[in-house]
Amino acid sequence: MMQSYLKQFPDKNGFFGKFGGSFVPEPITKAMEEINQAYNLIAQNSDFIAELRKIRKHFQGRPTPIYFAHNLTKEYGGAGIYLKREDLNHTGAHKLNHCMGEALLAKFMGKKKLIAETGAGQHGVALATAAAYFGLECEIHMGEVDIAKEHPNVVRMKILGAKVVSVSRGAKTLKEAVDSAFEAYLSDPKNMMYAIGSVVGPHPFPKMVRDFQAIVGIESKEQFLEMTGELPDIVCACVGGGSNAMGIFSGFIDDAVDLVGVEPLGRGSVLGEHAASLSYGSEGIMHGFNSVMLKDSRGEPAPVYSVASGLDYPSVGPEHAYLHSIGRTKVAAISDKEAISAFFALSKKEGIIPAIESSHALAYALQIAPELKGKKILVNLSGRGDKDIDFVVEKYGYGE
Ligand SMILES: Cc1ncc(COP(=O)(O)O)c(C=O)c1O
Repeated sequence: MMQSYLKQFPDKNGFFGKFGGSFVPEPITKAMEEINQAYNLIAQNSDFIAELRKIRKHFQGRPTPIYFAHNLTKEYGGAGIYLKREDLNHTGAHKLNHCMGEALLAKFMGKKKLIAETGAGQHGVALATAAAYFGLECEIHMGEVDIAKEHPNVVRMKILGAKVVSVSRGAKTLKEAVDSAFEAYLSDPKNMMYAIGSVVGPHPFPKMVRDFQAIVGIESKEQFLEMTGELPDIVCACVGGGSNAMGIFSGFIDDAVDLVGVEPLGRGSVLGEHAASLSYGSEGIMHGFNSVMLKDSRGEPAPVYSVASGLDYPSVGPEHAYLHSIGRTKVAAISDKEAISAFFALSKKEGIIPAIESSHALAYALQIAPELKGKKILVNLSGRGDKDIDFVVEKYGYGE
């Protein structure tokens, strides 16, 4: 891998190799160009950088620590397992890292309202938080299925002052929420900022969200070196759209470290039973970007499923498609059952209740650890599981 990968990718049109770009209708092209120009302007501006630094330290509580999971490491008897504690970031997940950046940009551009989709509700809560901080209006679109599953986050969004729009079309989950939010955004792009929830969507969102999330990787590298005197052998993270994974991967991308994106295998490898886009998908355009996509027999986005609302998306950020295509990253797939088992393992052995999304990354680490004695695995613990407890207990009880 060449030096300074992050400076080279994406190119000025938002391409990572053949993936990425901007495939949107005419009115949106102009809106995306404006966002791109404004972002390029303020990303270099020392006041913007200083403001974001201040927010991260005093409002978000960054840096988040790295924790050595000593009990799990002992129990699994192999590689050392370390966790980057994004669950301790304000609002309980990594999502606030890009939301504060996107909202600061919206404020700079004179926008009045933030609009977005949410799956697990973590991006919605983070965006509602950012809107409250900056005095902006906020509208969040969420599938009916996810509203029922992630009730605590729906309540939080409303308390924070956001309008939650229930989406009842199609599978009533994340993809439909994106469709619905995008349509609403089209009605008034001048006054609204579509603050996308992952490294997906048309250019400049995959780059912008990655850049805002890169703080996770920058901190992780420094902290890991300080803690252990060396780099981890493997860094893994769950992949829905891929923002937490790109955040932590970017810190190690130029180093000899294995990077593994962990996808949701749901109930199995049959189409419709999982959302493992990189593992089973093929090239396709959806939501304004070219990437790898799960398709039905007509070539349309296929129905997807995962126990984790934040992971059931039929595509993936274009940068993940690129890095996987050149062999820089690997992918693994973890089933619902394995993720839930990791959820209980971390809760009962370390006293940390993880998000079901993050439990996928942890499950992968637990799967490979026994064979890797002497190695070190760093897991991005992207969020905490408070939002999931009612659903988990109702479906799976309290664990063994
Ligand atoms: C805690 C947590 N982790 C991961 C994700 C997946 O998103 P991404 O792949 O963009 O990190 C979500 C999405 O809602 C989430 O809430």
